[in-house]
Amino acid sequence: MTYIQFDFQNPIIFKETQMIKFQQQLKNIHHKLCVQKQQKNPCLDWMNIHQTEDNFKIQELAKKIRNRFQFLVVIGIGGSYAGAKAAIEMLQGTMNHGTKILFVGQNMSSSYIHQILEQLHDKDFAIHMISKSGSTLEPALAFRIFRTFLEKKYGENGAQERIFVTTNPNDGNLLKLSQKKKYTIFALPENICGRFSVLTSVGLLPMAVAGIDIEYVQKGATTAYKELFSQIFNFNNPVYQYVLYRNLLYQSGKKIELFVNYDPDMLAFGKWWSQLFAESEGKNHKGIFPSTVIFSTDLHTIGQYIQEGERHLFETVLWFENTLSNITIEADFENLDGLNDLAGQTLQNINKKAFLGTLQAHVEGGVPNFILTIPKKDAFSFGYLVYFFELAVTLSSYLNKVDPFNQPGVEAYKDYMYSLLNQCPIG
Ligand code: PA5
Repeated sequence: MTYIQFDFQNPIIFKETQMIKFQQQLKNIHHKLCVQKQQKNPCLDWMNIHQTEDNFKIQELAKKIRNRFQFLVVIGIGGSYAGAKAAIEMLQGTMNHGTKILFVGQNMSSSYIHQILEQLHDKDFAIHMISKSGSTLEPALAFRIFRTFLEKKYGENGAQERIFVTTNPNDGNLLKLSQKKKYTIFALPENICGRFSVLTSVGLLPMAVAGIDIEYVQKGATTAYKELFSQIFNFNNPVYQYVLYRNLLYQSGKKIELFVNYDPDMLAFGKWWSQLFAESEGKNHKGIFPSTVIFSTDLHTIGQYIQEGERHLFETVLWFENTLSNITIEADFENLDGLNDLAGQTLQNINKKAFLGTLQAHVEGGVPNFILTIPKKDAFSFGYLVYFFELAVTLSSYLNKVDPFNQPGVEAYKDYMYSLLNQCPIG
């Protein structure tokens, strides 16, 4: 039995031949991955990063930052920030009582940066600048703004004590600048692309500063690795089931996958998930379009469409059996709101009924549903889920004959933006 439980409720009948074909292809892909892993193919370096050697350095630094600074400004875009934000929101919501993590460099909104600068003007803070290429415009601009702010306030030496950088160890403007200014540098391995990097310093340093137990995160990832990626091919493995059926759905015309959570603290995780699947699979005019929703909130925004709109979507629901707190509905002697029938029930139980009721309605309405059940929302589960989805998207991309580890399409907007800015890309 695996830590994650998989269930599939499907109103669609698949063609037997297609099913057998995919099963055989998945078996072959599994075999190739095993061989490539044994041969230490660098493309699969992400599979080993739950054993990172930087751990001790990260934890020591995180302790120092926590003791000294009220804020850590994390600068990065895409895979260079989405995982850390996902972990912090999933595990702490708005309840972070230690060093607060602020994220910048994911946009070029003047008013957003202005608000963060206002928030920090009389505070002491550190910066974690993350860019693998060292040349992405959004974080590079934010870094210039916040680095200059620190240099003006504390001088070059004071800024140096407050700035930490994760980048590739070989080249780029960020590396050169950081070496010149003698910032502490974490090397991001060449073969790990941003969206697969959350279990390196990219995600682990912000998480540790926020007070998350990163050992436990890695324990979750290691458990997922052991449970889900064994030498022996096994179709009961939940990752293989998920990959097989979501691709059968895709072949039968279901082009949109909604990742569903029942807790607003999971929104950033949903965004991380969307990026992972969109950038890995969406190539050569192929790929399931990933989107993320929070129920029951979004049942009152796009629920109508899901129930009765075009039948081109399926849902993947992530359900946590236990919550951090158990709020119980109290009886009210006047019962003016008519809710006394629910007195004595926990909110978690009521939320679960919403989940089960929605599941039934959507499946009956023609929307296939995957249900991934996890015992509780903690650091271990975060690490486990990261590994689960990274493995799933790798297998699924290979099944669709696309390379999961590049993102050539992201360059198109940059070329036009730079030609409008009338300059060459920095770096
Ligand atoms: O997943 C990816 O590789 C991308 O989303 C990158 O993380 C993102 O484009 C940022 O790139 P960089 O870290 O080079 O600034």
